[in-house]
Amino acid sequence: MVLNMTRVSASILSADLSRLGDEVCRVKAAGADMLHIDVMDGIFVPPMTIGDVVVSSLNKTKNITFDTHLMLSRPERSIPLFAQAGSDIISIHVESDYEKGLQNALELIKKSGCKAGLAINPPTPIEKAFPFIGIADVFVIMSVNPGYGGQAFIPQSLNKIESLRNKAENLGINAVIEVDGGINEKTAPAVIKAGADILVSGNYLFASVNMKAAVESLRLL
Ligand code: DX5
Ligand code: ZN
Repeated sequence: MVLNMTRVSASILSADLSRLGDEVCRVKAAGADMLHIDVMDGIFVPPMTIGDVVVSSLNKTKNITFDTHLMLSRPERSIPLFAQAGSDIISIHVESDYEKGLQNALELIKKSGCKAGLAINPPTPIEKAFPFIGIADVFVIMSVNPGYGGQAFIPQSLNKIESLRNKAENLGINAVIEVDGGINEKTAPAVIKAGADILVSGNYLFASVNMKAAVESLRLL
């Protein structure tokens, strides 16, 4: 998997979930690089979304990268299940609880054959992610508070992207940065300029009449 150019990950949180299979086909036809799968447990965030059983069913027709974002209070037990369900990237939160520690959980993701992502919420200082540079494969900087699609981009997220990019460069490590929340054709250019490699977009893509054009608009600087 090449992870060093701007890529678009379409969040199915904003899809018509009563027609999930068709919506995934729409994402593939639009040329998105990844399918962003938001998993919520009703504890880490209030909503409950979809689980590993549904992800497995999507896997039957898979030819797109599965970018699974676990918004779970205690993600460790779920990691093998989402790996087995066909995830390529599994991201867990720095704010979640870990019996055996966050580093161990990131290593478990890698041992399960997936890229390990570390997600960080807007109120959490970016410095909390620094010890995991060189350990996590991907950093997911949340640019909205997690739980809901269609929220406005939080502009302070740009500083966090830049700080993480600079810190990784100073360490001589090529960190992959994904930015999640409020991404559209207006917010994307600054996010890419700040150092993002992967843009997650839900509401903007799924509300578009022409999803292919919407995906392309996010790749433009
Ligand atoms: C928020 C989710 C995001 C969200 C992005 O909890 O993690 O992935 O669905 O959707 P938009 O682009 O609508 O902010
Ligand atoms: Zn997400």
